[in-house]
Amino acid sequence: MIKISPSLLAADATKMGEEVKKIEPYADMLHVDVMDGHFVPNISFGIPFVADMSKATDITLDVHLMIEHPLSYIEKFAKAGSDIITVHIEAPDNAAECIRLIKSLGKKAGIALNPNTDPKDIAHLVDSVDMVLQMTVFPGFGGQSMVRQALDNIKVIRDMIGEKDLQVDGGIYVENCHELVALGANVIVSGTGIFGQKDSVAAIKALKQRCMAEA
Ligand code: DX5
Ligand code: ZN
Repeated sequence: MIKISPSLLAADATKMGEEVKKIEPYADMLHVDVMDGHFVPNISFGIPFVADMSKATDITLDVHLMIEHPLSYIEKFAKAGSDIITVHIEAPDNAAECIRLIKSLGKKAGIALNPNTDPKDIAHLVDSVDMVLQMTVFPGFGGQSMVRQALDNIKVIRDMIGEKDLQVDGGIYVENCHELVALGANVIVSGTGIFGQKDSVAAIKALKQRCMAEA
């Protein structure tokens, strides 16, 4: 099943609530990028933002932790109302421990990998996660172009995880989303491709339609 997860990083902060209401009927999840200025060279949303968003919408909150020490923050993000919490295999904290903690808090767990990380590095975790996030850009910023190297990983990961959710994130637009779906991705994150367009509703509808046609 194709699911679209619009990334709020690209939304105008002064119109965030309005934007979320507009895309609500078409979004399957809402992607919240959390950056700490250490794991990635940028700073974005934090715990109060997730708490506000969880009050503002019933859409599944898909929280992508691009932070060096997720173990110290998972509980806070869970309590703030995250539904899915994804951590990076490249972060120094033990990923298996992070996943156990996320699950113990009754949340869904995801494991993310960068475009140049070998999918074998997450092989020991695939049974314990609900979702794998293959980054299609190097994390840290919205609006980047897709890194083609990541595409090779998608097929490998789909073979590893069976029917589980395979999310892709970074540089995804209506023009290229079908390639990722054809390789096995089913959860599409798009920031600039939705909130960076003139009409975010038309953009999410077009994205979903294009992906579903390829599925
Ligand atoms: C990048 C973030 C992405 C980002 C995607 O580090 O993880 O979720 O918001 O943005 P676009 O779709 O603009 O590449
Ligand atoms: Zn993200």
